[in-house]
Amino acid sequence: MPVLTIQPSGKTIPSVEGMSILEALLAAGEPIAHKCDGKAECGSCHIFVHDGRKSLSKVQRLENEKLDTLVGIGSKSRLACQAKLGNENVTVELLGFGSGL
Ligand code: FES
Repeated sequence: MPVLTIQPSGKTIPSVEGMSILEALLAAGEPIAHKCDGKAECGSCHIFVHDGRKSLSKVQRLENEKLDTLVGIGSKSRLACQAKLGNENVTVELLGFGSGL
């Protein structure tokens, strides 16, 4: 069972393989923007993944295209709604409601 660690708070959430990071965060009551409800259309769920990136589902075309339109993306960027958890622990950094509009 993967554990999701949230930065900067350091909070940990036990999660389920196959769940998106967005689903795991919302299930734990973490505030994260998700304006399009997980359709890779808004970019508001942009996060940085610091550890465990390789265990996540691969970036698909839709996510890649949306990430390309966002300001401040980097090699650790993912859309929380598109990145599904694998069987390894993952550490993410929440970027706040100002990232990606
Ligand atoms: S919730 Fe809109 S892109 Fe993830």
